[in-house]
Amino acid sequence: AADISDQITKVLVTEEEILAKLEEIAAQVAADYEGKDLLLVGVLKGAVMVMADFCRALPTVVPMDWMAVSSYGAGTKSSGVVQIRKDLDADIHDKHVLIVEDIIDSGLTLSWLLENFASRGAASVEVFALLRKPEAAKVVVDCKYVGFDIPNEFVIGYGLDYAERYRNVRDVAVLAPHVYS
Ligand code: PRP
Ligand code: MN
Ligand code: MG
Repeated sequence: AADISDQITKVLVTEEEILAKLEEIAAQVAADYEGKDLLLVGVLKGAVMVMADFCRALPTVVPMDWMAVSSYGAGTKSSGVVQIRKDLDADIHDKHVLIVEDIIDSGLTLSWLLENFASRGAASVEVFALLRKPEAAKVVVDCKYVGFDIPNEFVIGYGLDYAERYRNVRDVAVLAPHVYS
């Protein structure tokens, strides 16, 4: 693959920092959910990397399911219109659901998902977001576990895309404006 150093302006969070944080949060989650019927729900596609590394940092076996929603399309701004592209396979009734997300940006995706899940009779629904942009919030999302608060810049990597590209970049980095303007 081509070197992308000319397409990013800076690395915000390294892969190493992410993996260390996941260990920390996995220990908290393991303690908080001890003896409970936990179901991890990843939000495709951005959460693929964080789900893969987070679930393997947990000390116990845990089921996972996936929901595919999209609000960004090919642009850099949330449209606010959330579409379900793939619904859950599992019935979450009486399950303790932990939604695993790569990022809370405007908060629109997660606030919509939380409302959607609330109506399905889960025993509890909490959120783990690896990244959060406090300055970009349009709605406040009640997020129990947060990896890193980051500035309001367009970031890619570790699952996060611009027009479906850059998800496989290992670090989280700021995309150079010349790429999308
Ligand atoms: C991105 C990201 C979050 C959401 C956050 O997903 O992965 O799911 O946007 O933005 P918000 O807080 O402003 O709603 P996207 O819709 O781009 O789909 P993707 O995960 O397939 O990239
Ligand atoms: Mn997403
Ligand atoms: Mg996206």
